[in-house]
Amino acid sequence: MAKPISAFTCTACGASHRKWAGRCDACGAWNTIIEEAPLSQGPGRGLGTLKGKPIPLSGLATQEAPPPRAHSGIAELDRVLGGGLVPGSAILVGGDPGIGKSTLLLQAAAAFARAGQQAIYVSGEEASAQVRMRAQRLGLGDAPVRLGAETALRDILTTLDAERPDVAVIDSIQTLWSDRIEAAPGSVAQVRAAAHELVTFAKRRGTAVILVGHVTKEGQIAGPRVVEHMVDTVLYFEGERGHQFRILRAHKSRFGPADEIGVFEMTGGGLAEVANPSALFLSERGEASAGSAVFAGIEGTRPVLTEVQALVAPSTLASPRRTVVGLDGGRVSTILAVLEARCAIPFAGLDVFLNVAGGMRVNEPAADLAIAAALLSAREDVALPAEAVLFGEISLSGALRPVAQAENRLKEAQKLGFSRAILPSATKVEGLAAMRIDRIADLTGFVGETFGAG
Ligand code: TYD
Ligand code: MG
Repeated sequence: MAKPISAFTCTACGASHRKWAGRCDACGAWNTIIEEAPLSQGPGRGLGTLKGKPIPLSGLATQEAPPPRAHSGIAELDRVLGGGLVPGSAILVGGDPGIGKSTLLLQAAAAFARAGQQAIYVSGEEASAQVRMRAQRLGLGDAPVRLGAETALRDILTTLDAERPDVAVIDSIQTLWSDRIEAAPGSVAQVRAAAHELVTFAKRRGTAVILVGHVTKEGQIAGPRVVEHMVDTVLYFEGERGHQFRILRAHKSRFGPADEIGVFEMTGGGLAEVANPSALFLSERGEASAGSAVFAGIEGTRPVLTEVQALVAPSTLASPRRTVVGLDGGRVSTILAVLEARCAIPFAGLDVFLNVAGGMRVNEPAADLAIAAALLSAREDVALPAEAVLFGEISLSGALRPVAQAENRLKEAQKLGFSRAILPSATKVEGLAAMRIDRIADLTGFVGETFGAG
């Protein structure tokens, strides 16, 4: 007899559990496990009888033309899609509610439609009139996008099958419901079933399907992670509520480089492209001040400069604060430990606040040196040279490791007026005569040279 499928599911990551728990073992989220009706196994057809039909198999050497891509003309979007939209691909766009997903995809649908693609936008959250009003406010009223407002999966699929558009936007996956599943809309079972049907449709009919998914912190609604494995491309739309910058980041991509980012600015007239993100992220940087370090990073295929800001202050708490925004907290703890253990610079009794200016997230280990420099500069109250950028990975021994694409990083820095770079000594750099390059072997050496102590 088939094993019954466990009835408890995590709404954040989709993991199944035998019994309820406050915290999901699989993803660590709290209060996300809910009980769902067990899925029925369907009419039993044991694999022992092998009644399937043979599938066609082919060799690896067959010549496949690269997929033709549709361009929206929104360069930041096309880049994140790996150079344009691949027909028949399934794309998930996740993000916090209110971050601007609907705005972005309405603009994208309009751009594809204006570029000659057949585009359909189905909203399960807003009435057509509401979407139309927004489109007109954004100056998209003339774009030949066809709108629908519907949540019934069967009706949406029937419509798409009849219309055969090139692009279909479904906003959002959590509002859809299939009459074949006995579960509430937004439940893991419904969200998975809807995504599966839509992805299958995309593959069969060659329509590029873009699914919108709200990131949910906890509760009864399934998050976009539960369908990540089904789609070709997973994009997350990130940004701090208080900032106008928005970053579209490729987390998974079958048709392009992962980690590629597109940078947008939320304006009164919708999302505007930011062609030079480095200039934007550094725009609020004033005179050289203690605690500020400029990191020359790479996001996907593109160099991006960001400012790492640190504040170090005496703490009144038994275990001092470590508040980190836009950087990996674990990485920061490691750097603090290396500074203590290898350079004898203690941070005990000190509150540490770290932040990346402009609401950007930096995940690269190459940011280690800039983080350490910002921390030291804040602690010693000594400003770093304002004309310098930094990059380099710090190992647990305190040694500095070279990182990839040093020249791209330096060229971008030079373009933005930086004349000096502090980087690991093993870095290979050629043809940048105009830049002063300070090579450092380890963190202790850096501390000695920059702050005159060790
Ligand atoms: P929306 O696209 O509805 O977010 P999501 O679909 O991710 O939930 O965006 C909503 C926010 O964007 C809202 O707070 C208002 C803001 N916004 C602008 O600032 N300018 C605009 O032109 C538009 C359409 C929205
Ligand atoms: Mg929306």
